[in-house]
Amino acid sequence: MTVRRQQELAALRRVGRAVRAAIDRMAESLSPGMTTGELDKIGADVLAEFGARSAPNVFYDFPGIATISVNEEAVHGIPGARVIRPGDVVKIDVTAELDGYLADACTTVCVPPVSKRAAALVHAAQSALDAAIGAVKVGAPVNHIGRAVEEDVSRHGVRILRSLSGHGTGRRIHEEPTVHNYFVPGNKAVLREGLVLAIEPILAESTADVVTGSDGWTISTADGSLSAQFEHTVVVTRRGPILLTA
Ligand code: CO
Ligand code: CO
Repeated sequence: MTVRRQQELAALRRVGRAVRAAIDRMAESLSPGMTTGELDKIGADVLAEFGARSAPNVFYDFPGIATISVNEEAVHGIPGARVIRPGDVVKIDVTAELDGYLADACTTVCVPPVSKRAAALVHAAQSALDAAIGAVKVGAPVNHIGRAVEEDVSRHGVRILRSLSGHGTGRRIHEEPTVHNYFVPGNKAVLREGLVLAIEPILAESTADVVTGSDGWTISTADGSLSAQFEHTVVVTRRGPILLTA
């Protein structure tokens, strides 16, 4: 969507706070021995406190509130009986709807003891999101985001899962434009004032490819290497991007 009125921005900030609160409480609660289903319930309680709803659950019939993806799982992991283990790399992604407005964010949490390779990958993912947000300017091509991600990721020696992208959002989960995490030749899309984007570089240690699991939802790295991701929903403005989910 494109924000045109202050009330729209206020509504987006409200849902952004709900998403942040859900992810933060889930991240704080994460500990070995708990199941991803128990973790999901914590997020469900936070969204309920805000009067918000899980957008994938409501609009896509996703069987959970948050998508929780562990280790080689990149996105759309289904919460359930899986037990969190020491050393796991856990991606918690929450997209919520409140009063018709949506925000989408993801964080990666490492359960101690954290391996060197996990720490390096998670650092690269955080750095890639920072670089992507740094490329957000009114009037710039959307392609600047993808180029910034590519340059940053190449410095860290890890890979971009190329089939997974960011997206416009705000009124529906996925809106135009697609925010690729690489430069797309010929892509003329431009970052306009007020545009709402979910920016989400999704990285892997050693592959650019993914596979979809037998559950029909879970998308994992093709080679079984670890994946990490951070995501924020931002509003493009002349004063710089507003991070709704920070
Ligand atoms: Co997300
Ligand atoms: Co997203």
